[in-house]
Amino acid sequence: MRICVVGTGYVGLVAGAGFADFGNDVMCADVDQGKVDRLRRGDIPIYEPGLQPLVQRNAAAGRLRFTTDVGQAAADVDAVFIAVGTPPKADGSADLSQVWSVARTVGQHASGFTVVVTKSTVPVGTADNIRGILQEVAPDKDFAVVANPEFLKEGDAVNDFMKPARVVIGTDDERARQRMRYLYEPFVRTLDRLLVMDARSAEVTKYACNAMLATRISFMNEMAGLCAQVGADVQQVRLGMAWDDRIGSRFLFPGAGYGGSCFPKDVKAIISTAREHGGHLQILEAVEEVNEAQKVLLAQRVLQRLGQRLHGKSVAIWGLAFKPQTDDVREAPAMTIARVLHQAGATLRLHDPVARETFSAELPAADRVQYFDDNYEAVSGADALVLVTEWRAYRRPDFRRIHDLMREHHLFDGRNIWDPAYVREIGFTYVGIGRDPEASEKAF
Ligand SMILES: NC(=O)c1ccc[n+]([C@@H]2O[C@H](COP(=O)([O-])OP(=O)(O)OC[C@H]3O[C@@H](n4cnc5c(N)ncnc54)[C@H](O)[C@@H]3O)[C@@H](O)[C@H]2O)c1
Repeated sequence: MRICVVGTGYVGLVAGAGFADFGNDVMCADVDQGKVDRLRRGDIPIYEPGLQPLVQRNAAAGRLRFTTDVGQAAADVDAVFIAVGTPPKADGSADLSQVWSVARTVGQHASGFTVVVTKSTVPVGTADNIRGILQEVAPDKDFAVVANPEFLKEGDAVNDFMKPARVVIGTDDERARQRMRYLYEPFVRTLDRLLVMDARSAEVTKYACNAMLATRISFMNEMAGLCAQVGADVQQVRLGMAWDDRIGSRFLFPGAGYGGSCFPKDVKAIISTAREHGGHLQILEAVEEVNEAQKVLLAQRVLQRLGQRLHGKSVAIWGLAFKPQTDDVREAPAMTIARVLHQAGATLRLHDPVARETFSAELPAADRVQYFDDNYEAVSGADALVLVTEWRAYRRPDFRRIHDLMREHHLFDGRNIWDPAYVREIGFTYVGIGRDPEASEKAF
């Protein structure tokens, strides 16, 4: 098939390369000239495991090309995938201006029967609105609109895209259904997990999934708070829950709150959609409130332990990306924590295996903000070490070396990955999230 993917971010680039890998002819279009230039040189602008060889292989085979000319890319193709950003507006609703702009361009340039697909996460009714735009811009052209939400997760995006748990296709147009089935069948060969439904249901499905996952995280963070208050250990509670197959083990980890480019904005957007329709999503409003509190919790623990004024104190932070295996720092809890501690007067010593560049674009290196290439260098002379993102290399560090390097010896484990008894034996104080009654007693 001849495919155009508009937007070469985490979703568009993975989707474009993935479609090309199955032999399709893919043109990726992005308005960002710098990104397109880099991609043409085989240089991947984002960190995503496995993406570079996938892109390079398909570009070398001539099946994957890049352009800044969205109109030309959308002309004479079987399907156009819209994978541009849908960031939150100030009121929490999704800003769809990039989607509308692409729809207009596609309307002007498409030829022949073209399937226009939303891959971006878009509020219910967007497919209908795109149809309206296309009819207005090009009343004589033949289009079908499909809602095809993407469920990949950053850090494992290539695997998720190539072997999707399911593919959701929302449309009532039979020709579009057939085309989408033809395109996706190679991806779901083992188990026929292709779910065809109406566009509105497909649009809601995406938000419902992210809202559910965010709910599990906030639920566990709330349980962690309770455990800390009553002297229970949320790690034990989690295991007791996870073995129940009605509950399952995933997304039950308490931590520093959810972040990233999806959960925060999607929870806000679905709340906003409900409001626009006169409804009220009470659970999700609470999910958001719990998350906001959780994002500052670690910083509060540091202030409780080191004092409210941190002038002259030095705090190392390990893990800046919103989760491991990505360089994405959008809505990252580490940013909230860093800002609170910096405001309190602390000198920050920051480390992340890949997100240094993206994080420093928002929080530039300065007098009291220092970045390090080496995680041990980051703790040198620090009074506290705050673990925010659980990259693998942080899981079993050399604590004796860390102890020797630090000035004071306070550990704040935002992901409960360290053994409190072991690190205390070495001479640290330890605070986790909702675990270890001994630490809770000291901290609260
Ligand atoms: N990142 C994820 O893990 C993920 C997962 C599932 C769904 N989504 C959804 O997919 C969408 C894209 O997310 P992302 O993380 O890939 O975003 P992103 O910000 O990484 O990429 C969006 C790209 O679109 C380009 N763009 C903006 N306007 C354009 C236009 N008019 N024409 C051409 N290109 C344009 C930007 O330059 C950018 O490169 C969002 O709706 C998001 O919610 C994201």
